[in-house]
Amino acid sequence: MDDMSGMDMSGHGGHDMGAMADGAVTLPEGEVLRDLPLLANAAGRPGLFKARLTAEAAVTRFAEGLDTPILAYNGTSPGPLIEAFEGDRVEITFANRIEGEASTIHWHGMPVPADQDGNPMDPVEAGTDRVYAFELPEGSAGSYWYHPHAHGATAEQVYRGLAGAFVVKAKADPVPAEYGDTVLVLTDLRLAADGSMPANTMTDLMNGRVGDHVLVNGQKNPRLAVTKGAVRRLRLYNATNARFLKLAFDGAAMTVIGTDGGLLAAPVAADEILLSPGERIELVASFSRPGPVTLATLDYDRGWMGPGRPADGGLTLLTVDVSEDAGGAMPPPPARLRPIAPLPAPAFSRRLVFSETMAMNATGMEMGFLINGKAFDMARVDIVGKAGETELWEIVNQADMDHPFHVHGTQFQVIEHERDGKISRPPYLAWKDTVNVARGETLRLLLRQEQPGRRMYHCHILEHEQLGMMGVLDVTA
Ligand code: C2O
Ligand code: CU
Ligand code: CU
Repeated sequence: MDDMSGMDMSGHGGHDMGAMADGAVTLPEGEVLRDLPLLANAAGRPGLFKARLTAEAAVTRFAEGLDTPILAYNGTSPGPLIEAFEGDRVEITFANRIEGEASTIHWHGMPVPADQDGNPMDPVEAGTDRVYAFELPEGSAGSYWYHPHAHGATAEQVYRGLAGAFVVKAKADPVPAEYGDTVLVLTDLRLAADGSMPANTMTDLMNGRVGDHVLVNGQKNPRLAVTKGAVRRLRLYNATNARFLKLAFDGAAMTVIGTDGGLLAAPVAADEILLSPGERIELVASFSRPGPVTLATLDYDRGWMGPGRPADGGLTLLTVDVSEDAGGAMPPPPARLRPIAPLPAPAFSRRLVFSETMAMNATGMEMGFLINGKAFDMARVDIVGKAGETELWEIVNQADMDHPFHVHGTQFQVIEHERDGKISRPPYLAWKDTVNVARGETLRLLLRQEQPGRRMYHCHILEHEQLGMMGVLDVTA
């Protein structure tokens, strides 16, 4: 194991692991929800999206009178919202102005060529620029995102502020335009009393960093005003390092219309949704009765090791003020959204076992996060696949925690979950790039990579990815 794959748990020090409740800084709540700034397209002709993203240190104010040093894309965190259309060519110049640190931009979930995907093996050194160029194929409309993927630095660069949403719009969108299209990027924040973001502790490394606040577009419990009868299209992003968000509306009806890779075939009503780190969901929410409506978290047991388990339920993320005056009732979403063809029978199957190991050594307890018994090695190819061939992947979670599984370069279809010998099927067919694999569960999915090259697959708890729970898939032509 190299230094990234194991950690020495004998040393304590730094931020106290359980201090978050008392030491927490109060953040203002109830401000008007801000729209994310839109990344301007400098191309000046249809069919091309051209822009520049600079990653750099910035200072922001989450709490009254406290300056917080962060990392930002073009000065904002979350980064600017990128909106492009299916069929567009994208050319984004990335300027890495993070002092002394390599970075990359990874286009999470997007079907970009392997050498444009910001892999850890393609670092952009501090002070340098690179252009990422790719086409957005027809049918690729969906809720993607972008974040760094530099070797050994992903978790820290993301919690310091580097993450943004990338929405690929359909040329013909079946969802009524009057719903609007609101992107809600959920991030996690821990602030020390002096306004700084404390470094990860041992507990953070084991469980993934879970902070004191969940923010929506950088704000704590912001407010959104709608009229009675309004229906809103909401894209929810779990851009936290490690927080599992079980979400429900109190006072509004919720219908799922899309997942990571775009629309479902048909809308599905839901009372609650579990969004694990890295996942996105597209909803329509109908506000039929006046008064405040809240979007809040429910308890979810995702497995926890050691002290400092944060409360996960009961956090209000967003408050919607529904006015008395009816703005006119809006139509329900169409019964059919878009066809989703089931992937064909797989050519072959493979099995990936996720595990945690603890071993005593001379200096104390060492913990590793492994796939098929191995910690990540960027120079090693773990599995070989073939472009255009459908595979069955069986993801076995033998660990004591849930691990959200993610693979680069494509979207997959989950076909079944197995737990204690019992098989269940997901409630709908969907395109996904990230899915939670609960502890003790075996999940089966169908996956096809269309483009050759090396792709990463990993746990999207970013501290686990960093500590070795990642592998390399080489897709051959
Ligand atoms: Cu969103 Cu490999 O990550
Ligand atoms: Cu990714
Ligand atoms: Cu994990």
